[in-house]
Amino acid sequence: MITFEEQSGIFHLRNDKMSYVMQVVRGKYLLHRYWGAPLRKFRDSRAFQALDRAFSPQPGDYENERTFSLDVLPQEYPAWGHLDYRTPAYEVRLADGTTATELRYAGYEIRPGKPRLAGLPAAYAEDDEAETLVITLKDYAGHLTAELYYTIFADLAIVARSARLCNTGKDALTLTGAASFALDFPDHDFDRLSLYGGHAAERSLERIRLMRGIQETGSRRGASSHQQSPFLALARPETTEQAGEAFGFSLVWSGEFSFRTEVEQFGTTRVVGGIQPDGFAWLLEPGESFQTPEAWLAYSAEGLDGMSGNFHQLVRQHLLRGPHRAALRPILVNNWEATYFDFDDEKMDALAQSAADLGIELLVLDDGWFGRRQDDNSSLGDWQVNTEKLKGGLKGVAESAHKRGLKFGLWFEPEMISFDSELYRAHPDWVLRAPEYPLSYSRHQLVLDLSRQDVRDYLVEAVSRILRENEIDYVKWDFNRHITDAFSAELPPERQGEVRTRFVLGLYDVLERITGAFPQVLFESCSGGGGRFDAGMLYYMPQTWTSDDTDAIQRLAIQSGTSYVFPPITMGAHVSVVPNHQVGRVTSLQTRFLCALMGAFGYELDITRFSAEEREQVKQHIALYKQLRPTIQLGNFHRLLTPFAGTKNETAWEFVSADGRQVVLTYFKTLAEPASPVRILKLAGLEAEADYEITEYLPAQCTSVDGAGKPQMQVKGQVYGGDELMHSGLTVEKIDTDFAAYLWVFNKI
Ligand code: GLA
Repeated sequence: MITFEEQSGIFHLRNDKMSYVMQVVRGKYLLHRYWGAPLRKFRDSRAFQALDRAFSPQPGDYENERTFSLDVLPQEYPAWGHLDYRTPAYEVRLADGTTATELRYAGYEIRPGKPRLAGLPAAYAEDDEAETLVITLKDYAGHLTAELYYTIFADLAIVARSARLCNTGKDALTLTGAASFALDFPDHDFDRLSLYGGHAAERSLERIRLMRGIQETGSRRGASSHQQSPFLALARPETTEQAGEAFGFSLVWSGEFSFRTEVEQFGTTRVVGGIQPDGFAWLLEPGESFQTPEAWLAYSAEGLDGMSGNFHQLVRQHLLRGPHRAALRPILVNNWEATYFDFDDEKMDALAQSAADLGIELLVLDDGWFGRRQDDNSSLGDWQVNTEKLKGGLKGVAESAHKRGLKFGLWFEPEMISFDSELYRAHPDWVLRAPEYPLSYSRHQLVLDLSRQDVRDYLVEAVSRILRENEIDYVKWDFNRHITDAFSAELPPERQGEVRTRFVLGLYDVLERITGAFPQVLFESCSGGGGRFDAGMLYYMPQTWTSDDTDAIQRLAIQSGTSYVFPPITMGAHVSVVPNHQVGRVTSLQTRFLCALMGAFGYELDITRFSAEEREQVKQHIALYKQLRPTIQLGNFHRLLTPFAGTKNETAWEFVSADGRQVVLTYFKTLAEPASPVRILKLAGLEAEADYEITEYLPAQCTSVDGAGKPQMQVKGQVYGGDELMHSGLTVEKIDTDFAAYLWVFNKI
């Protein structure tokens, strides 16, 4: 898949779906030449313009030649402060204060498979599934080298990139920026797509015209964050969900990050992504190196949905690990919105009883089971069961679940510490804080200093002890505040700029040790909902709680947004009570079910309080979900309509089983409207030659008086060709209720 032509200096990474081309020019500069649809051979049809651009604003370079300027050439890993004024990939400060350095091409190596990145999560591949190119660049004056890693996978339009920077000089140097990748496009005819939000409102899609100048999508919060996600895409203005070119970027990193786009004077575009450089300063002693997190670059000629399909496959086949990687996820009930902190053995036992009756498979005990925790003021860090609340201890609750055939799960928030805790009283120096300043609280809590080995060892043991001593099948690992005052009592002054990065590396160390020691436990990560929904966390924990907003209508956006990078199996999605606790909205049980059905499905309400009628409906939903679960969790996903484009009033999700035999289609219309246009849904990913029979159809539950008697246009037993469903489409009946939700299931005949 990877070739190098000595004479032209061309590296070509190629498979059936994509080509990525670089060139070593004049023996020293590693330039980017092409990324897009696969090319048989790159012969340089769009040769560089040899313009005289060395007039005052552009430095000429090559031996004082006016027609060769690094400031206009596409570079794979550009430096700061030297011959290129655009956004740099790396920034460095040498011992004498020099910041202008120059990395020059020094050699390459092609390896089968994909090397692991020490201490970091990353996609993995067998030797016959991928190939990796390592290009070495050496600093002109010998102070550092950069190894640039490029992995191409056999069956995906994705390149995984990262860089390793090594101090090869005699003195210490400081990295003040180390991106995972830089990439130049020859034009700027793009829309810029990013995912923004807030707590309980994660990952809405913003699509704007790519602007001249510099734009950033990023986080400075010590976490990948609710506010902006570590994702960026450039798509042609005409690109839709199903058609057109898109270039997507995602990071395998759970800390603060930055994606910068820069459209420069000649209209070319640079994208740089990786660890947030603001506030970053990493000291490298001679011989030491720094490995950047991995970035994924996904190409699609089949629209945004095609880009997501690539990301989904990469996540499912090359990121998730352990026995739960491709295992069906248990249907759970979580007591958080059912009881909040107000629970005891009896309430948990009643939940377990109802759960078993309904067909639920996992009972999760959320926040409040430890220390003296009655609200969010105290006890984080004191991971001992509160036997006043749970008289039978954790063993008792676990036993009440297990004896009914349910699995049992438990909430933790290990990275945190309450001021009011035994742990803080014993180890006040274990928190991140600026020494002379007051403590900074968020949700009344402080953050443990995971850059410290002793803190990490304590954490691993505190969590492991609970997992060893109790029969726990599932863990929800929460992180409910962002990082401030990132000062570590243990590090010297010149290393304080490393703390935010070391915190995340420390977390990865803890997660590797705990998840490695308890492979049978299913871990779900969480951060005030979906504040750390990223590929880094998914490497250790194969699912994430998508949002603290459980309202079905808000979730249409949140889950659609999340699906730009992550597949349904990774998204925790629960049915909750109405009026909804976050927004007060009332939606039907069916709408809530069909929305939550998209992911790792469960309930988050007091299931003992269902009416007899609701109980029957829930039983049917659960039985149906079990039938559809392999298709939803292990199949391929397509976004047909999202709340971000078109009418913005409709959402349609399609799931096609891995063997192509079953198709699940859901459609939601948020508000009913008079004279509403006919809605035709054109399906994706079917076999044109095959016929499909509708085996299940749930029309919207109408709230209007005469809604019940409406004609049903699509009934069970109806057969349609795959070509017809994809090209002519399926008409949705006229809807006269708000928050309507439909389900069709097709089976290939
Ligand atoms: C976070 C989580 C919730 C719940 C609470 C408990 O907000 O996202 O699901 O676990 O913490 O405090």
